[in-house]
Amino acid sequence: MCGIVGYSSTSNSIELSEFVSMIKSLDYRGYDSWGFTFKDADQLKTEKQLGKIETPNQQGSATFVIGHTRWATHGKVTKDNTHPHTSNSNKISLVHNGIIENHQELRNKLKDNGFNFYGETDTEVIPNLIEFHLRTSESVLEAFKKTLDELKGTFAITFLHDKSKKIFFARRDSPLTIGVDKDSLIVSSDVTSFIDRTKKVIYLEDGDYGYINSEIKIFNKEKEVHREISEIDWDVSKAKKGDFKHFMLKEISEQVDTVKQALIQDSKLIEKITNELKSSEVYIVACGSSYNAAKAAEGEFLKNGLIPRIIHAHEFEQYEKFLSEKSTIIAISQSGETLDLINAVKIAKTREAKINAIVNVQGSSLTRLSDNNIFMNVGPEICVLSTKSYTAQVAILMLLASSLINKPNESKQEIEEIVRHIYYLTSESARKHTKELSQILRYSNHIFTIGRGRDYATAMEAALKIKEVSYIHAEGFAGGEIKHGPIAMIEHGTPCIVFVPNKNNQDILSNAQELKSRGAFIIGISEKKDETFDYWIKVLGPDKFSPILRIIPIQALSYYLAIMKGLDPDKPRNLAKSVTVK
Ligand code: AGP
Repeated sequence: MCGIVGYSSTSNSIELSEFVSMIKSLDYRGYDSWGFTFKDADQLKTEKQLGKIETPNQQGSATFVIGHTRWATHGKVTKDNTHPHTSNSNKISLVHNGIIENHQELRNKLKDNGFNFYGETDTEVIPNLIEFHLRTSESVLEAFKKTLDELKGTFAITFLHDKSKKIFFARRDSPLTIGVDKDSLIVSSDVTSFIDRTKKVIYLEDGDYGYINSEIKIFNKEKEVHREISEIDWDVSKAKKGDFKHFMLKEISEQVDTVKQALIQDSKLIEKITNELKSSEVYIVACGSSYNAAKAAEGEFLKNGLIPRIIHAHEFEQYEKFLSEKSTIIAISQSGETLDLINAVKIAKTREAKINAIVNVQGSSLTRLSDNNIFMNVGPEICVLSTKSYTAQVAILMLLASSLINKPNESKQEIEEIVRHIYYLTSESARKHTKELSQILRYSNHIFTIGRGRDYATAMEAALKIKEVSYIHAEGFAGGEIKHGPIAMIEHGTPCIVFVPNKNNQDILSNAQELKSRGAFIIGISEKKDETFDYWIKVLGPDKFSPILRIIPIQALSYYLAIMKGLDPDKPRNLAKSVTVK
């Protein structure tokens, strides 16, 4: 996904360097390249840069300016493919987040009408299509509406027209908000770009388009509409690193609070959803870490009498024919913008299924599609890796599972107990061990993670953390699977991280022994040391919450592996905070 932002004011210009810092606050959405266009009298001036967002070359200030930070989908990382994109006459300059599915067809149509293109992106067709429609329209807005009607796919768009003192915008399936400040309006992919200026926000709906200048004009299906102004419920300090070097370490440390915060939920809402779950076929749908969170809680649901179908969102459409009003979906997403999940939820809605979201971002697309929203309450998660949101999701799912047998408070009491274990696990002294272990593992080519039952999910999440931030190949296995193939990969010194529960641990310890006897270097994550361990990380606390407790040292290990390798743990290569493309 990409980040877009537009600043408009008729009375108060913004320094371009300050505007670029607004773009930078979105760079967790994508950081391949960036650019901006501002109005200078009746001229549009554009600057584009590759790589991470730094100070702009262009000096000065402006009252109308749009900007973009890119995560490349169509076209290589080049200046020509960097947004903003301008139309042939340079009358229109535009930024976009999303995918225009019929861009090739539109490119051909425009070429037939005398337009030419300098880049490879899908986006570049949009400003030229607006220009094409300007030939037969009374106003820029009319030309924009005709353009939107021709676009197939997803978009959040803002653009400038050289003669208009306005910033135009439109939203379809990609998030877009308007920050309402006292003497300026800011249209943006999300609130992090303007939260240090204002907490007043309008969450635009799908199909909304319009413009901002000194006023806000929003239309939907050609009718003017009014959208309420909401108040953002967290403050800017949450979106800053504070004393931490990286967001990743900050967000790992925040888990001592966020796991508890996640459980502060409206008991009536939880009861309502639980009753629905009891009388439905339940599908839990997610991607990445959010999927792993679902797998981590699966055992608790099963123990309490419910069989959840846990499905990757991108594989969900195969289940369409089984869905009905008797189906309940639990859609899990930190960002609420993962396109595969949004698409899965839309399929479920066509079959009258109930949608319950476990989501972190207020006003996100998922929240608008759901019948009920359980907010994770962990504050903004800026690091691309999911850490505090993963453990919050597991905690909420455990709460739902406990509620099935009318013991919602059981989870809460137990979480109070484990918070002090989390306090230790996120402390400097605990991290000394993982820092030391990262020194041992930093040159590994492969790291295997192994667990059974709920800790199979822990193994999958551990492998995801390690690989996505240190680029070391890591793979999670179920202990029972090892002998069905994976053990063939074990060589002398192959690092194997083994998650060992306090009770019923004989099978996983046998797996560790089998691996060790073939030369593996065994790293035990457990309450007690075992003779098979070559390295031991001590983790106290009840087995039931092992997916929360035992993942924390691996989050820290992943962080230190990235640091050891001179990598940026907050912005790993090729990744973005939310995957808003299929
Ligand atoms: C996890 O560290 C990754 N950032 C990724 O797998 C993520 O969990 C996945 O893309 C789902 O994101 P969501 O929770 O915002 O839907």
